[in-house]
Amino acid sequence: MIIAVDGPAAAGKGTLARRLAQHFGLGFLDTGALYRAAALRALESGGDPADPAVAEAAARRVSPEDIGDRRLREERVAQAASIVSAIPGVRAALLQFQRDFAARPPGAVLDGRDIGTVVCPGADVKIYVTASLEARAERRFQELRRAGEAVIYERVLQDMKDRDERDSARRTAPLRPADDAIVLDTTDLDAEATFQAALAAIEKKLAGKHRRDAR
Ligand code: CDP
Repeated sequence: MIIAVDGPAAAGKGTLARRLAQHFGLGFLDTGALYRAAALRALESGGDPADPAVAEAAARRVSPEDIGDRRLREERVAQAASIVSAIPGVRAALLQFQRDFAARPPGAVLDGRDIGTVVCPGADVKIYVTASLEARAERRFQELRRAGEAVIYERVLQDMKDRDERDSARRTAPLRPADDAIVLDTTDLDAEATFQAALAAIEKKLAGKHRRDAR
């Protein structure tokens, strides 16, 4: 079983995807971490992350060990990730790893921007998690504060707006819900309520699928 969880920054994708993976006994991949790792490698090389040659070389060097690096969560890395991720060669370099991960039995939950549309268009369940810009900025602000970063709310809000625009406007794999995605607005839902709403929608979807398969 493959579950695709997509949506904009700080909508609650990661928390939901992790819980779904645990609930269904599936693997979990945070695909944003791969783009963040490519961005961090590009920044560390001293080159410009917007330069396709620099970004593609960095993406090709990304390895599973990179995912644990704490620096990936820094805001400068998030911004650079949304720059490198608009470069087609970067997306191509990271695509097979994601597909191989999803194909490994018994299946997986992947969270990102284009899982339901590009990486796993045949996923059994697709969820698009969203929330108002203000709710997402507030969540990210609290998250960064807890991590000890010196942050200003207005700055976080602006960074998120910039990133949303870049992610939605890019030509390759823009952020958008798949036609067959379940859309979940978490503006007024906490993590538990989000999980319960997703679970109810998934069970309904799978029951419909089984009925169709049995016919
Ligand atoms: O945690 P947050 O939602 O803030 O970001 P993330 O999921 O770690 O993704 C960081 C950046 O990587 C995003 O702003 C996207 O530009 C890019 N990304 C992407 O293009 N495709 C994905 N499947 C995942 C992330």
